[in-house]
Amino acid sequence: MLTQNQLKLEAARKALAFIPDDCIVGVGSGSTVNLFIEELATIKGRLKGAVASSQASADRLKAHHIPVYDLNAVDGVPVYIDGADEINHYLHMIKGGGGALTREKILGTASDQFICIADESKYVDVLGSFPLPVEVVPMARSFVARELVKLGGHPELRDGFITDNGNIILDVHGMKISKPVEMEGILNQIAGVVTNGLFARRRADVLLLARQNGIEEIR
Ligand code: 5RP
Repeated sequence: MLTQNQLKLEAARKALAFIPDDCIVGVGSGSTVNLFIEELATIKGRLKGAVASSQASADRLKAHHIPVYDLNAVDGVPVYIDGADEINHYLHMIKGGGGALTREKILGTASDQFICIADESKYVDVLGSFPLPVEVVPMARSFVARELVKLGGHPELRDGFITDNGNIILDVHGMKISKPVEMEGILNQIAGVVTNGLFARRRADVLLLARQNGIEEIR
């Protein structure tokens, strides 16, 4: 019986096969991605470099002497590798458990291919058991919280947490999200919302799902 950490490592290892030679690779955030960065270091000789979705990932990449570029400094990102908090059968995701959702969404959307790496506990029928992270400009906190309540959610301030962009996170409980594409748009229309953690308009292209009996590749 593999542990959840071993399953994450299996998915991280498998992702190496999706990285073309001499390319800029997009790197997400979180514990699965941390394992991926360790694996990436073993093939760094065939990389041009990386663009990171968080300061934490950038620091880890730099510790392995993998060149880290600003997204504005590269022509394109052929492939982006990231984890998820939940992912459904359409490869729509909830992300942002680590608070890096805005940069993850920018990088994921700017990349040609989005590869999600996850253990099987993340694969769900309906998104929303995991509280949905919403990044909010601080002065809009109370207003946005009231709007989220009107939509049926129970927002909770992520205490003591400030994003890499200087904003706060509201984690929204109790949302069973049956229409992720629509809900993503509705939440982004609330003034003061920077990004929400639904990744449905730009879903993953490939899910590498680590199960006890091996990696399932889902498209
Ligand atoms: C960070 C994220 C992560 O991808 C997500 O939280 C999954 O993390 P982990 O790999 O630790 O389970 O969206 O903002």
